[in-house]
Amino acid sequence: MVCRRLLRNGNRGMHLRYLEIKGGKKLDGDIRVQGSKNAVLPILTSCILGGGVCRIGNCPRISDVEVTLGILKAVGCKVIQEKHTVCVDATDVSVCEIPASEASRTRSSVLFLGALIGRCRKAVLPVPGGCAIGARPVDLHRKALEKLGVTFSGQESMTADGSGLSGAVIHLSFPSVGATENSILAAVLAPGTTVIEQAAQEPEIDELIHFLNLRGARIRRKKDGSIWIEGVKELYPVKYTMQADRIVVGTYLLGAVSAGGRVRVLNYPKHGLELPMELFREMGAVVRMEEESCELKCSGRPKALSYLETAPYPGFPTDLQSLFTAVLACADGRSRIRETIFENRFQMVQELKRMGAQIEVYGNTAWIQGIPRLQGAEVSATDLRSGAGLVLAGLGASDVTRVRNVEYIERGYEDICRDFGRLGADIQMCQ
Ligand code: UD1
Repeated sequence: MVCRRLLRNGNRGMHLRYLEIKGGKKLDGDIRVQGSKNAVLPILTSCILGGGVCRIGNCPRISDVEVTLGILKAVGCKVIQEKHTVCVDATDVSVCEIPASEASRTRSSVLFLGALIGRCRKAVLPVPGGCAIGARPVDLHRKALEKLGVTFSGQESMTADGSGLSGAVIHLSFPSVGATENSILAAVLAPGTTVIEQAAQEPEIDELIHFLNLRGARIRRKKDGSIWIEGVKELYPVKYTMQADRIVVGTYLLGAVSAGGRVRVLNYPKHGLELPMELFREMGAVVRMEEESCELKCSGRPKALSYLETAPYPGFPTDLQSLFTAVLACADGRSRIRETIFENRFQMVQELKRMGAQIEVYGNTAWIQGIPRLQGAEVSATDLRSGAGLVLAGLGASDVTRVRNVEYIERGYEDICRDFGRLGADIQMCQ
């Protein structure tokens, strides 16, 4: 099979492309990781909360960012993207309706609801898209905004009237990341005080809060996790550089667990990987932290993890679940993983089984009997993180693994092929 390394080529051959991995090559290298997807999406969206030009550095070049930039343009912003810097001029936000074609491409389009309400006091949002990892309703977003005085009409698309917007106490029945962000975006410019109880505590939310405070917002995270927002009249433009993506960091470190070898992440994020780091050690990896970097070395089969359950931060992140499942498929012993956040995240197990994995799923729990080695096979990503998980499986497998549906992976990884290639893997994009 002759493979050709491809440059970004628009839609040409989009669905025919696949990643080809010749497994069994140990990794050895240093890497600087792209900016955080889950932080940059709300931060870019929040640019519309004031006039002037915000300049965002270390912005990852991933398709979810492209879609968000498309929505910013659709509502009237001017956007300039040069390499990893994006400038958003939100002086004229003239449209308060998100095009259905854009909303259906990413889940985070739902955040424009809060941001447009904050800026224009009205918003129209068609059904948001995103990876099919679960039902993903928006009831918590809606209830939170209703507490702030927003009224909704419409069935398919949501039409929000924010003319009565004002601060209030919001109690989230579950610490939803998106509903917390939407509440913040709507409350920042609302008169009065807003309190978000049982707010999500993911580090990406604190990065959004930090960004907004740099712009003149008055937002505080209390010790009990609640978020207090004193509404301000306006926000100012700023320059800001994104933190590294903790899930991508986790992916590249896990590469060295799957294939063996050594990976050093040069821009290790301050928060967000505390628990995964403990798990890497439990699996037998040697982890060395320095001020800004983290090095992981692993040789031989990883040890199984007897029980692991996903949970809101600071619990084990659901976004790393597929990646751990893939690596534990070859661990020494039996692991059990319970997925409590997104009900469809075990879709990947069928694909791992094509590679010989011995995994049984009962309800929301996967029982993983580790085998010495997976066998390369043709597999398909079922969502963003499952795609990355299959790449990890391929790195440690014998023979060749081909991963299809690479568009999913490109939602969140700038160039997984380039990055693992630099770390020493034999991986190519083919068509
Ligand atoms: C965000 C992240 C995603 C991560 C997830 C959980 C972004 C762009 N995406 O997704 O990578 O996996 O947090 O850490 O930041 N729910 C409801 N009703 C709602 C909202 C959510 O029932 O109105 C449920 C969801 O179906 C899911 C759970 O709450 O079961 C968690 O969802 P949420 O925290 O909102 O995740 P997202 O913001 O979609």
